[in-house]
Amino acid sequence: MTQIRCAVLGLGRLGYWHAENLATKIRGAQLLSVIDPMEGRAEQVARELGIDGYSTNPDDAFNNPDIDAVVIVTPTSTHAEMIKKAAASGKHIFVEKPITQTLAEADEVIEAIRKNNIVCQVGFMRRFDPAYYEAKKRIEKGDIGQPIYFKGLSRDGNVPPASFIKHSGGIYLDVAIHDYDIARYLMNADVVSVQATGNVLQHSFLSEYGDVDQALTTLQFSNGAAGDVETMRIAPYGYDIRGEIVGTEGVLTIGSMRQHNIQLYTFAGSTYDIIPDFPSKFKDAYLLEMVHFIESLTNGTKPDCTAEDGKAALEIAIAATDSFKTGKLVQINTVHV
Ligand SMILES: NC(=O)c1ccc[n+]([C@@H]2O[C@H](COP(=O)([O-])OP(=O)(O)OC[C@H]3O[C@@H](n4cnc5c(N)ncnc54)[C@H](O)[C@@H]3O)[C@@H](O)[C@H]2O)c1
Repeated sequence: MTQIRCAVLGLGRLGYWHAENLATKIRGAQLLSVIDPMEGRAEQVARELGIDGYSTNPDDAFNNPDIDAVVIVTPTSTHAEMIKKAAASGKHIFVEKPITQTLAEADEVIEAIRKNNIVCQVGFMRRFDPAYYEAKKRIEKGDIGQPIYFKGLSRDGNVPPASFIKHSGGIYLDVAIHDYDIARYLMNADVVSVQATGNVLQHSFLSEYGDVDQALTTLQFSNGAAGDVETMRIAPYGYDIRGEIVGTEGVLTIGSMRQHNIQLYTFAGSTYDIIPDFPSKFKDAYLLEMVHFIESLTNGTKPDCTAEDGKAALEIAIAATDSFKTGKLVQINTVHV
């Protein structure tokens, strides 16, 4: 089988995991190069993963004719530029969420992707998480009848540093967007209006960036269903991601807080370990989404989470941000599903 030769751009909190998966776990993929402008970082990762190629300049990947695909895990504010350069140089693209920071940028990158006939997958890994994946199959099978309400909950106790927050686009674009995407996917309907609120309850530095550590979004879907998304960066117990779909004939709950399938009993009481962070929770999902990307390129099939899906989720996140800022309900006019 032909190997898909890849470069990973950005080797921070998440980039390293994608690089490790491509270098060591994915049949049909070959990691040729890792790139990060931070002095010494790419060299260190290349050494750890046993590969020869590393650089501090992303252009080295775009200009390298041996590279078929780039995996973009750089700060969100750089995604638009990276995608446009990748598309112009004929590289297929896996890009982390959110696809871009603005809708104008999303339109530009979609145009560049179409014009250059490039495959692009956006990193909404919940679609590949075994529990969410199974939920989608059960809903499609009709196990809960017609979905009429979506509930999404994303709580993280670890707030990222200011250097990340500054380029993240804020809590709706950075965190709640995962729930907006999975809501569209599981409900098989677009969101037509949102109303969002948010507050800074603990991490006061977020105010400097117009961001919040606790947020709530209510959703109205095109088919009349409704939903809500709770998002926070101040969970005092771990990393907690759950979902619930109410249907006309049943309810489906997704996810748990449990890290290991064990329970400890002592005279002090009974406890279990709680998932501490996103790499622990979504290790399998990050691997499976990348397997899907490589298989799509190998087989010439369309990936499950396209640039258009990336734009649709971004539209909801931008509408939620506007609603938070204005206190008003915001309509979304584009219907994709
Ligand atoms: N899907 C998920 O669950 C998930 C989780 C975390 C982050 N993300 C996304 O991944 C992206 C990166 O997030 P992170 O948490 O890894 O950030 P990070 O700040 O930890 O790392 C970003 C890395 O990119 C490097 N970088 C900066 N500019 C660059 C450039 N022009 N070219 C190449 N490298 C560059 C930085 O030196 C840094 O090492 C963001 O878009 C974020 O939204 C997604």
